[in-house]
Amino acid sequence: MSYFEEMKEKFKSLKGKKDLVVLSIESSCDETSIAVVKNGREVLSNVVASQIEIHRRFGGVVPEVASRNHILAISNVYKEALLQANLTEKDIDAIAITYGAGLMGALLVGVNFAKGLAYSLNLPLIAVSHVHGHIAANYISHAQLKPPFICLMVSGGHTAILKVEDYNKFSMLGTTVDDAAGEAFDKVARVMGLPYPGGPEVDKLAKEGNFVYNFTVSNSLKNTFNFSFSGIKTEVVNLVHNAKQKGTIISNANLACSFQECVTKELADKAVRACKTTGIKDLVVAGGVGANARLKEKLSELCKQNNINFYSPILKYCTDNGAMIGAMAYYMIRDGLGLASLDLTAKPNVEF
Ligand code: KG4
Ligand code: ZN
Repeated sequence: MSYFEEMKEKFKSLKGKKDLVVLSIESSCDETSIAVVKNGREVLSNVVASQIEIHRRFGGVVPEVASRNHILAISNVYKEALLQANLTEKDIDAIAITYGAGLMGALLVGVNFAKGLAYSLNLPLIAVSHVHGHIAANYISHAQLKPPFICLMVSGGHTAILKVEDYNKFSMLGTTVDDAAGEAFDKVARVMGLPYPGGPEVDKLAKEGNFVYNFTVSNSLKNTFNFSFSGIKTEVVNLVHNAKQKGTIISNANLACSFQECVTKELADKAVRACKTTGIKDLVVAGGVGANARLKEKLSELCKQNNINFYSPILKYCTDNGAMIGAMAYYMIRDGLGLASLDLTAKPNVEF
């Protein structure tokens, strides 16, 4: 029997197995991360080798540099993940891998490592979408959380409001028509001369500033669940450049605070309106921008006012990590989804 034929049988048997231990791999951007997750919610280990320091000197992620550093890190991250979980390869039931969305070269390192591992250990390979993984990060942090819920997905690559009808059933209510929220944070930070990644820096600096610039955020999209952040980004860039030309000084802290206020208000208002429109009483935030303190504060205030339960992942599971991929893979296996053959390849873009 071929590897894949054998795995089809094994995969079916996993559906009914009492405990499922998944080893999950994430390499879509600048973190090499491998985790061991039991039953979708219990993280036995989550090792992250971050490349932030390496990319900082370039002011952003350099794709080729990211791929090379994933190659350098991945074997040791794997060994460390098993070690910290206090398990051996024999205890693993399946290998899960982020196949997209992300940087092609970076993804390929993880995908090929996962394929080699699955083949040599004779284990099923589960192909997981990165954005679905971000949503599943919430299952780790909140034992009681289950669909249906509304998800505000805000990362460096994606911004959307999703209706999560079931663990594997997603429908999109709205998305960004231009930049992702994280992308806007990073670009605004860059024009202010803040280091990469800009989102956390803006978050920090905003606490010292005041709301003085009432930037306009996508008026034409007011009655939709779509977003546009390129206009506000351009406004900030123009403000900074004009000030430089005129030799006037503007406060970065005020700029950060004003930008953040406008963007987080837009995100929080629409996410809560999505709950009210659908009648769904649970709201979840997912992705790197979900780490933003002001966004969480706004979402939690608005949810309280509207009798909606608000959930966010603990900080380390907001940004990219292997554990969220293992959490998602568990629910895919239980629903008989995601089994991949050794022909699996990486995809830079993946549909929600
Ligand atoms: O989910 P993530 O780690 O990677 C992608 O899938 O894109 O998100 C990274 C993004 C970056 O744009 C980063 O600046 C942003 O999340 N981010 C934040 C914060 N922490 C990370 N943005 C605003 N405030 C934060 N505290
Ligand atoms: Zn991500």
